[in-house]
Amino acid sequence: MSWDILITNIKGLAQVRESTPGVIKGGAMADLPIIEQAFLAIKDGKIADYGQMKNLPSSSATRTINAEDRFVLPSFVDSHTHLVFAASREEEFVMKINGASYAEIAAKGGGILNSANKLQQMSEDELFERTRKRADEIIRWGTGAVEIKSGYGLTVKDELKMLRVARKIGKETPLKVKTTFLGAHAIPKSHTKEDYVKLVLEEMIPAVAEEKLADYIDVFCEEGFFSKEETIRIAEEGKKFGMRPRIHANQLKRSGGVQAGVEVGAISVDHLENIGEEEIEALRGSDTIPTALPGAAYFLNLSFPPARDLMSAGLPLAIASDYNPGSSPTGNMQMMVSMACIKMKMTPEEAFNAATINTAAAMEVLDTHGSITRGKTASVLITKQVPSIAYLPYAFGTQWIEQVIINGQVL
Ligand code: NIG
Ligand code: FE
Repeated sequence: MSWDILITNIKGLAQVRESTPGVIKGGAMADLPIIEQAFLAIKDGKIADYGQMKNLPSSSATRTINAEDRFVLPSFVDSHTHLVFAASREEEFVMKINGASYAEIAAKGGGILNSANKLQQMSEDELFERTRKRADEIIRWGTGAVEIKSGYGLTVKDELKMLRVARKIGKETPLKVKTTFLGAHAIPKSHTKEDYVKLVLEEMIPAVAEEKLADYIDVFCEEGFFSKEETIRIAEEGKKFGMRPRIHANQLKRSGGVQAGVEVGAISVDHLENIGEEEIEALRGSDTIPTALPGAAYFLNLSFPPARDLMSAGLPLAIASDYNPGSSPTGNMQMMVSMACIKMKMTPEEAFNAATINTAAAMEVLDTHGSITRGKTASVLITKQVPSIAYLPYAFGTQWIEQVIINGQVL
């Protein structure tokens, strides 16, 4: 056997799956399979083999890494981000500290419209350079695959610009990228809502599809933004052009977003800070993956999604970062897992399942990402010397990753 990289003496090789399971639901989320005293072999950018050290075949490797006292996990999969944006919005952060709400800031032309103004004035090259820095940052924090949305363009030309930048991130960085058209993110001052919805339906969707720029379509279903009915109309139109829906649902109010998502067969409904029995009932029996975005709930001081109720109902749960300048200015998935444990009372095992396999299912990259499985892309994390898996979310805010391997390349 001759390998490119051999990682030996691993204290625990976590999230090992002989064959890839589908999305993990309910009680099954409590199980995070770990091989103790393990090795992991990488060849041609793929996971070639793994097992217990005592079964290590006689072999040679170009590079050997001793992972004594360290855990190895698959890279995070972040299924909800707004990675492409022009600039940060810390001025609004200070307004919020002084008492303004997210909805009030948005109504004053802050929020998404503020980001759109800045983005419209920026060249595609500059936007790409800024986004690439963020991409490099999330790679160091352990993300191997990421979904990226548009939605700060709000004109045909600028939505296309954002999506081209997102696609280019997938080509020019080691990240696996899926893209989402979120033209229906806010209503620009230049349009009535009716006119803007028409623009999304009749011009933006066909233009995005023409250049094959988006894998998915998203709508911000929320009071003051897009109604349940508008969400359904836009999502259905996207489907006609081959974009499967994923929906921003129930962040600020019980807007009907979850029900809209289920009705259109969305792959995921994301946010869910404001849900109850009705929404959980709607999700039961559907294939729509509920996704929590703990960074946004934390940053906006919202109540967190009822993770235990969702899992007790036998549903899956995914966790993503929502990295964006207005409501979650970090794409650090280590922090998301910590917040899921601390604020949503998920166990570390549940949280890691939510941030790897379930997000991989939510962005349809399970064949290559989300678990340690032979043949999958070799995107894995080696931790620092730590006592246990539970230590990782416990030590919130610390960089517990020592080494990142992405697509078989050691960073
Ligand atoms: O997911 N909720 C809508 N979109 C983003 C926030 C966008 C912004 O404030 O810039 C979110 O939280
Ligand atoms: Fe979002």
